[in-house]
Amino acid sequence: MQFSERMSRISVSSTAAVLQKAEKLRANGIKLVDFGAGEPDFPTPEHIKQAAVRALEENFTKYTPTGGTRELKEALVDRHAKDFGSHYSVEECLVTVGGKQAIFEAVMATVNDGDEVILPVPYWVSFLDIIHYAGGKAVFLETEEAENFTVKADAVEKLITPRTRMIVVNSPNNPSGAVVPREEMERLLDVAARHKILLLSDECYCQFLYDDPPFSLGSSNDREHLLLVGSLSKTYAMTGWRVGFALGSNKLLANMLKLQSHSTSNPTSIAQKAAVEALRAPQDNVRAMLAEYRRRRDRVVDGLRAIPNITCTLPQGAFYAYPNVSAYLQRDGLADTTVLAERLLEEGHVAVVPGSAFGTQQHVRLSYATSLDHIDEGLRRMAAFFAKIWKNSDK
Ligand SMILES: Cc1ncc(COP(=O)(O)O)c(C=O)c1O
Repeated sequence: MQFSERMSRISVSSTAAVLQKAEKLRANGIKLVDFGAGEPDFPTPEHIKQAAVRALEENFTKYTPTGGTRELKEALVDRHAKDFGSHYSVEECLVTVGGKQAIFEAVMATVNDGDEVILPVPYWVSFLDIIHYAGGKAVFLETEEAENFTVKADAVEKLITPRTRMIVVNSPNNPSGAVVPREEMERLLDVAARHKILLLSDECYCQFLYDDPPFSLGSSNDREHLLLVGSLSKTYAMTGWRVGFALGSNKLLANMLKLQSHSTSNPTSIAQKAAVEALRAPQDNVRAMLAEYRRRRDRVVDGLRAIPNITCTLPQGAFYAYPNVSAYLQRDGLADTTVLAERLLEEGHVAVVPGSAFGTQQHVRLSYATSLDHIDEGLRRMAAFFAKIWKNSDK
């Protein structure tokens, strides 16, 4: 059987190998500490689940409009206006099957073969595969670890060519937790507008910011050059429900909708009802989760920094830490971070994701969306593992 050429441009995420191994170890009864999964450990809040139960009881189980119900779009633009001072209309909102579908549709709707997309490093792995799937070319913007991986508008502008169609920015960032400061975000939008290209701002983690109040570029009035992508997955611990959204020009959204109409059709009806409840109800759960993530962040970063020869930037948002483990590479057979992650899993029983999945060669990603007890145990195991590597390489 022959497969299409476009399938050869993408691969299943390089994290899959580690995850598969983790499953095998678990099946053999080994108790792992899992820092791999990029999703909240909290259950979906009860009032949100009950809204889905009500939707079922009321037989809200049919197709809805492809781009989501008007009720949900209103709840989304209202929530966004309240939180960020934006002014999107319902026509400038599209509901998608997770934020990932919005990104996929936006890239497919704007990028032609050979077009360039500027992608800051480290990046969330799906961006790269989606750009390749569309036939585009990713132009990497290297960021400085010493500057907390911050994306600079000046550096982005230097990479623009006549083939550039899009700039991607993801703040807070997966995997580094880096946040692009508000003024720099505004400069990025200005660069996009001057060069008449699209800035895709992935704001899936924008409610999880530790030092500054939540911020969204949506508070600007630019529709032509800005597409916001958001998600309920992380904010409301709803990863499995698959509800995301895009806010932007209705022309772009109409093109994304075309693709949606021939692929998934509408997001699941009962998940949409649950999403309305999540957005309309008091936001206490979000604040409580943020407070807990902050405690965990401090514990993880302190613990990582206490391991000799590991450095770690302070994540300013999201729930990931991205320590630099380069001092251990080439020691005791650790050829790269993939090998390191495999051995940490097999010998230390701790799952992390190698930085090669995110475009850097010196880091691993830890998701701290897990309990403080797990974090403490995982850090103990990591400290013992790295001490062993160091000792073996000194022999
Ligand atoms: C940076 C980033 N963007 C988008 C998504 C997509 O999330 P979802 O499709 O669950 O909304 C994720 C999920 O991990 C992410 O990390």
